[in-house]
Amino acid sequence: MAKAKTIFYCTQCGNETPKWQGRCSACGAWNTITEQPASAAADSKKRGTAAFAPVGKARRPQPIAEVEASDELRFHTGMSELDRVLGGGAVKGSLVLVGGAPGIGKSTLMLQICDNLCQFAHVLYVSGEESERQIKLRAQRLGIRSEGLFLFSETNLEEIVAAVEEQKPEILIVDSIQTIYNGDSNASPGSVAQVKECTMTLMHLAKGMGITVLVVGHINKEGSLAGPKVLEHMVDCVLHFEGEEHNSYRILRAAKNRFGATNEIGVFEMGEQGLSEVPNPSEALLSGRPQDTPGSCVTCVMEGVRPVLAEIQALLTPSAYGNSRRSSNGFDYNRAMMLSAVLEKRGGLTISNCDFYVNVIGGLSVDEPAADLALVVALASSFRDKPVPYDLAAIGEVGLTGELRAVHAINQRLSEVRRLGFTKCLVPARSSGKLIVPEGLTLIRITTIREAIAALI
Ligand code: TYD
Ligand code: MG
Repeated sequence: MAKAKTIFYCTQCGNETPKWQGRCSACGAWNTITEQPASAAADSKKRGTAAFAPVGKARRPQPIAEVEASDELRFHTGMSELDRVLGGGAVKGSLVLVGGAPGIGKSTLMLQICDNLCQFAHVLYVSGEESERQIKLRAQRLGIRSEGLFLFSETNLEEIVAAVEEQKPEILIVDSIQTIYNGDSNASPGSVAQVKECTMTLMHLAKGMGITVLVVGHINKEGSLAGPKVLEHMVDCVLHFEGEEHNSYRILRAAKNRFGATNEIGVFEMGEQGLSEVPNPSEALLSGRPQDTPGSCVTCVMEGVRPVLAEIQALLTPSAYGNSRRSSNGFDYNRAMMLSAVLEKRGGLTISNCDFYVNVIGGLSVDEPAADLALVVALASSFRDKPVPYDLAAIGEVGLTGELRAVHAINQRLSEVRRLGFTKCLVPARSSGKLIVPEGLTLIRITTIREAIAALI
């Protein structure tokens, strides 16, 4: 009898090899190669490709004119901040992956949206982390209306699929993908092979049965979703739930969205009663801003289509032993270094022998050039120990020669700045379109950072 063919694959990264190896040649992990009959591997591959095919549809190429293109069916989750990040509500039959650090509030968010969803849909909440009793206690504490909500504490994928096929929910929540395993595979739960396999199966359920699936995912040390990058390619939306340990604000950010714009953010606050929405993030992020203190400047960044005010802080102190220390939190480190070099060379402030620390308040991460000017102003203000006027905001991109460049969406930014009570705004002298200056706001137009420093500090 012919010997059954087997293949070897890495349980960490999924790489296949024809022979057993002690160390995976693709990801470098030790002792992760396992053997599997070739037929089983082929089966799982077949399941994988079918995941994207809607059940019962003819499979042949179609002319684009004949493709049905009615708008996606969307429904509101009951949390408008989440709806905004999803591009105007959750799409029927889509798979959304929500990632975040432990304790950030992923399970709480999932449970809270059930409150509204179960009013009009049949929701199945599968948890591999908590028992039904634990979930019920939490739901009671959060005051979740729960008719139409079914709980299932299970980690075996087959059991979950069977429950979904029997119950036919419209919405399926899985918390978390790393705890679910497929008994057919010998990889351990949470390993790349398992996570991939389970996501494929959930994708198949979403597309085949038209179920909206929300999946919670853990993140690894580097802050990306634990699992292969291919996971993010497979699913329809990837949302990151972020926040700082000692701060009650939580930011939900779309990293990928097949049904809407990315870079939209939703802002929440974690309190006694779970998560509450923050419809006015600028106000929340600026609350508690120090008055008459050097080293702080407010700017306006665009988070998707929404202007949000952010406070940028800088602290400069003389370095000990001629060895300067620099760190940046919430502002791109390399950009902060570049701006400090520009400030030294073109702004004429000798800051190279200072330690410096940059921080963006409220756990916001700023990666827009429009925030450059505010950082330069905050650095100069800390260096000279002179506060920036409390009612002044600064918007503008800074170039390597110290020149100021126009930014997009300036009018929206200006009206947000005015809405929050600012009366002065530092802007680049040139703008890309016609400026509409809100009443009560005085613009200070500048061409170089030297002018900015001369005007303020
Ligand atoms: P959880 O949703 O369990 O986090 P995750 O699923 O992302 O790991 O949230 C747990 C944290 O949230 C916990 O540290 C306590 C805090 N929390 C509150 O502050 N208020 C609340 O009402 C709830 C439910 C949780
Ligand atoms: Mg959890």
